Amino acid sequence: MTSPATPDAHAAADSGTGYGRAPSSHDARLTEVGPGTPMGEVLRRYWHPVASAEALTSDVPHRTRILGEDLIVFRDGQGRAGVVFERCAHRGSSLFYGRIEEDGIRCCYHGWKFDVQGHCLEQACEVDGGRRRNLARQPWYPVEERYGLVFVYMGPPEHKPPLPRYECLESLGDGERYYSSWPVPGSEVTGMEADYNWLQLYENAVDPVHASWLHSQHSGFQFQGTGTTGFPESYYDPRTVAERVTYHRTPFGVKYVQSYEDKKGPDGRPVTLDWVVELQVPNVLALPDFVRVTPEARHDMLIWVVPSDDTHHRMFYAIRAADPGRMESFAFGIKQNGKDNWQMTDDERQKYPGDYEAQRSQGDITQHSEETLAPSDRGVVMLRRLLRTMADDVAAGKAPLGTGTPGEPARPVDSGVFVRGERDGAA
Ligand code: FES
Ligand SMILES: [Fe+2]
Repeated sequence: MTSPATPDAHAAADSGTGYGRAPSSHDARLTEVGPGTPMGEVLRRYWHPVASAEALTSDVPHRTRILGEDLIVFRDGQGRAGVVFERCAHRGSSLFYGRIEEDGIRCCYHGWKFDVQGHCLEQACEVDGGRRRNLARQPWYPVEERYGLVFVYMGPPEHKPPLPRYECLESLGDGERYYSSWPVPGSEVTGMEADYNWLQLYENAVDPVHASWLHSQHSGFQFQGTGTTGFPESYYDPRTVAERVTYHRTPFGVKYVQSYEDKKGPDGRPVTLDWVVELQVPNVLALPDFVRVTPEARHDMLIWVVPSDDTHHRMFYAIRAADPGRMESFAFGIKQNGKDNWQMTDDERQKYPGDYEAQRSQGDITQHSEETLAPSDRGVVMLRRLLRTMADDVAAGKAPLGTGTPGEPARPVDSGVFVRGERDGAA
């Protein structure tokens, strides 16, 4: 005869149910980007891409949002790029409806005109163009152009660092140019926006094991690898990936090295290859060409993950290449059931999920209180630790890692596909 189960025995049998859990929360210190927030103040110590330089013409102004601030980016008739607040300093109409002129942008409401530094050049409906126009100032931010991108600095003026240079993007080779404009309608000038927190995308870049599941085992191989080696199945193998990846601190961030055996290396013989990705904080990412998978001497691309606000971000890239197909392959290089993500129906997304489905479904901002981290999350943990340290540094009045110093040489970037043992400084 068995005795009736006590209430305690039931509780033990059914442990871990969802009943009575505390409300979930995100780590605001890591993720929120508005003015005055810890990470917002970190991010405001660096330059961020705001537009493709090539796609930004003097035709019309463009509306964007960066770090929770609504901004207008434009190029005046003299070719100078400018970033100003969207609300006109007069009575608040949007400069999105403004007109671009030779020396600035003119508001549609009463014709005030501002130059790229927000100086009020004219108040069209006031006597003499506004005798007190010098007192009006449209809030603006410093801008610089490099590598095919327009960069903006939104931080304290006294801490404005030089815009960093990167070895991999310096010195165009024969026939090379910079590619930076998304070939997707609506995204050509101000980038490709996604509707979830920036850190979900950025930390995905230091989570290589997701490629061993999401992009290969869950619903088929999604990378369109070509080149001399492509992606052999040994690259993905989820049973061995944990042992094939190492994570490292670098002078400017973190990187991982993922090794795999390839039965057909560049010279046709079996070889061990290293796939290397580096993240330079706070939001730069160096990813090898994930379509043309070929050991190469020099990496050719950087990606910036720029927060629009707490729940949106934009991706910008700069590619140094001679082949226009290089840019196309970056934009369209991952296929889900043979399609681009935006071509899929909801049913197809459920059956063939990719990066967007995995990252977006973590939430507008992922709920850190609900996570259960494992050893293969080591890269994510390293990145978050670094970002937290940077927030501490800014709060303590110190410069965070990698803001840059005058005269600093171009930064090395460790990314690419390498034959193990055939490069200097290999991890
Ligand atoms: S609101 Fe812009 S000129 Fe009046
Ligand atoms: Fe991915």
